[in-house]
Amino acid sequence: MDIRPARLADLLELQRTNLHCLPENYTLRYYLYHSLTWPQLSFVATDSKQRVVGYCLAKMEEEPKDGIQHGHVTSISVLRGYRRLGLAQKLMRQSQMAMRDVFDAEFVSLHVRRTNRAAIGLYRDTLGFEVHGVEKGYYADGEDALAMRLYLQKDK
Ligand code: ACO
Repeated sequence: MDIRPARLADLLELQRTNLHCLPENYTLRYYLYHSLTWPQLSFVATDSKQRVVGYCLAKMEEEPKDGIQHGHVTSISVLRGYRRLGLAQKLMRQSQMAMRDVFDAEFVSLHVRRTNRAAIGLYRDTLGFEVHGVEKGYYADGEDALAMRLYLQKDK
């Protein structure tokens, strides 16, 4: 298993992985926008045959309301047969490091369904994110989102 920056050639596979794993799906154009604008921030996990089995799709907030530079994880998922191997944790850490080192991000934000136990476990227990707020009815089916944040340490 390998973790590396996502390339343009990965985007179809990345989109396919997203379609397998999540109801929040995006146009290819949106993946391209991430990859072309912030090529340092999105990562893929690949198997021994170089097939994409997981990804972290991330961006910088272009016009932060409070003026504070920060990154945002748009989407992350790992195919079922490859879960609980530490891949998501590694994908997240790589992206967080690039946000801090390349773009001077102070923190990273994300949204997660409040019932998504696995992802909340990853963010809160493994990576140290905290709940910053609740966004009522954020998802298309009306479920609330937890808005979570992790402040990035400068000296690590
Ligand atoms: N139940 C509880 N905690 C879990 C679970 C689970 N099923 N899966 C992972 N965790 C937590 C644990 O704390 C785990 O540490 P441990 O294994 O030492 O106990 C920690 O997360 C790290 O686990 P990883 O192995 O790195 O996570 P994995 O590679 O399995 O991927 C993910 C986790 C991405 C949430 C995966 O389950 C998945 O793809 N789910 C479907 C898609 C999804 O929900 N994505 C997140 C949506 S929110 C967003 O995209 C911003």
